[in-house]
Amino acid sequence: MKIEDTKFNFNKVVDQLPNPIMIFKNEQLVYANPSTYQLLGYEEYEEIFLKNLLPMGDYEKVLTQFQQVLTDRKSIVLKDITLRTKENKRMKTKLYASPSNHKHPFIQVYIQDTVYSAKLKQDFTDLQKKYQDLTNYISDVIAYYKQNGSIQYITPSVNREFGYKSDRLIGCCAFDFIHPQDRKRVEYIFRSLTYNTEQKQVRFRVRQNVGTYVWVESAFYRIEEEQGLYILANLKKIEKQIEAEKLAMQTEKLAMVGELSAGIVHEIKNPLTSIKGFLQLMQVGAIEMKDYINILKAEVDRIEAMAVNMLSFAKPHDSVDRHNLKDIIKDVFLLLDVQANKNNISLSLNEDVPNVFVKGDEIQLKQVLINLVKNAIEASHSNSKVEVKLAQDCRNGYIKVIDYGKGIPKRQLSKLGKSFYTTKEEGTGLGLMVSYRIIEHHHGQIKIDSKLGEGTTFTVWLPKDVYQGQELGPIKESYKSGT
Ligand SMILES: Nc1ncnc2c1ncn2[C@@H]1O[C@H](COP(=O)(O)OP(=O)(O)OP(=O)(O)O)[C@@H](O)[C@H]1O
Ligand SMILES: [Mg+2]
Repeated sequence: MKIEDTKFNFNKVVDQLPNPIMIFKNEQLVYANPSTYQLLGYEEYEEIFLKNLLPMGDYEKVLTQFQQVLTDRKSIVLKDITLRTKENKRMKTKLYASPSNHKHPFIQVYIQDTVYSAKLKQDFTDLQKKYQDLTNYISDVIAYYKQNGSIQYITPSVNREFGYKSDRLIGCCAFDFIHPQDRKRVEYIFRSLTYNTEQKQVRFRVRQNVGTYVWVESAFYRIEEEQGLYILANLKKIEKQIEAEKLAMQTEKLAMVGELSAGIVHEIKNPLTSIKGFLQLMQVGAIEMKDYINILKAEVDRIEAMAVNMLSFAKPHDSVDRHNLKDIIKDVFLLLDVQANKNNISLSLNEDVPNVFVKGDEIQLKQVLINLVKNAIEASHSNSKVEVKLAQDCRNGYIKVIDYGKGIPKRQLSKLGKSFYTTKEEGTGLGLMVSYRIIEHHHGQIKIDSKLGEGTTFTVWLPKDVYQGQELGPIKESYKSGT
């Protein structure tokens, strides 16, 4: 009997159902949806009777139950019924039998392949276990947030990495765990992901359960779902990396001090020679002390300034004070004049330099500037110039270090700032990497503009210390342009 021959009109929806559904009239199958045929291995035109589908024991049991359903007009569930396919494959099923609303006595049977669903369940448990194992092995913490920072899911690795139980964090606001100085940056990233699909990478400090903060790096991705916008993050602890970078910074500083001091010793020798000469002349009474005392004092002051400047580099430091960028630039000029002169390069600062106050570590800021000016001198041709310009707007101070030297090829630009990248025979390749890190810690940015054969401009911008104690600065997304 073909399905078209049945007098019963079924909703097309039933045909689409993934679960097998059958209707019996007496013992003959008069309707089955495609899933049933697929499960039982019969073709739609074949006549099928209840006893074809059931082994003898179950056939008798089911037949009695079906009759009961018709008499009582109540649905029943028949558990552990073995169903037989055309190819005599057997499967355990659960049958839901109910009387049809139609005036003819029909039985609707809903089959659930318990073996199949048990297998699904097992697969799911296996998958869950595998996933659990995976999250136990990866040291990254993967978190899923709503846009307001509310944690929706976080991998159990959060326990090992930060000491929190993952289920206790659900619903908590992620921003509450971020260091107050870094919070604005992360909040900004969450906001910007509303209109920007680009992945964002950022470093910030996270409070551990024990109360201390640790540095982490995370990429943030925007995930669009029907219910709204979510943000996915993979947090990675970078304590070791930070340590290594600190070491690199120290190494670079020491190398710089060594290099600078050779020049400085030379620079000190000149005024010392003239001071000695004046003193000898005074001793024999050839000149009057009062006529030359100011010159002597100026020379001694210069030596002192250089010595103090150099010494400060050797001291341990990590202080955050208010500094005038103008003074920092002038001090750096004092230290680098020698090297510039040696290379026949004139070092100039723009006229009417403004006073620009920033908060930060004086030595670190000098270190950045020395690195940039030294690189500019090293890239310049003899008899050219290196210009430093200081400017400001309402939020930031800008230092530009401009050279007219060889320039940087495009393919090299992306490598700058990676440790040990150098094109110089005696370079360490740490100068820029250290500079980027320092400026990043100061919530600033470094940008490079370069034209091959024409020269390079490095622009450093730093948030100004507008009011004492208040920091207004750019919210930085990546620490380097072009990455
Ligand atoms: N102003 C510039 N003009 C052209 N190339 C530059 C400039 N500044 C940096 N570079 C390139 O970037 C590379 C890396 O610079 P970085 O300061 O990190 O290391 P380095 O100068 O090579 O070594 P070190 O700083 O230890 O002496 C340089 O080797 C050079 O190729
Ligand atoms: Mg350098």
